[in-house]
Amino acid sequence: MQLLSVLVHPDPRLRQVAKPVTDFNADLATLVENMAHTMYHENGIGLAAIQVGVPLRVLVIDLSKDHQALQTFINPEIQTQEKAQTIEEGCLSVPGFFEKVNRAQSIQVSAVDIHGKPFTKSTSGLEAACILHEIDHLDGKLFVDYLSTLKQSRIRRKLVKMKAAA
Ligand code: NI
Repeated sequence: MQLLSVLVHPDPRLRQVAKPVTDFNADLATLVENMAHTMYHENGIGLAAIQVGVPLRVLVIDLSKDHQALQTFINPEIQTQEKAQTIEEGCLSVPGFFEKVNRAQSIQVSAVDIHGKPFTKSTSGLEAACILHEIDHLDGKLFVDYLSTLKQSRIRRKLVKMKAAA
């Protein structure tokens, strides 16, 4: 397993629209394995391939405390979204910032697994927010995009300063 480096906002690569996976090969399995390893190492609950510089529609999540509940969604699509909730979100690509974001409360999502086998999942609460957050990444969107312009520019400025100091 390999630790991948996570791109940090405002890296323009985070704004790419990721392409659907068409080859369900060993490279894909390795990518997913390395993404999970990286997510656990960084104490994240979700990671999209675009965040490690791979513009493919692949995401992993794990909301368990013991890293025993890895879920992989490839080419995910939201089928239904219901109700609304506001949850505080963070992002490995926006380190150190946590802000409340309004999203659907329950969702149904369809996707395929690393073998290309289709499945559907219905979920709500934090897991729904997490999946929606990660799917946003696949479309080049970040949770900060939902914040006020003032907050967005403050976060951007601080991250640029952090990067310059690193
Ligand atoms: Ni994120």
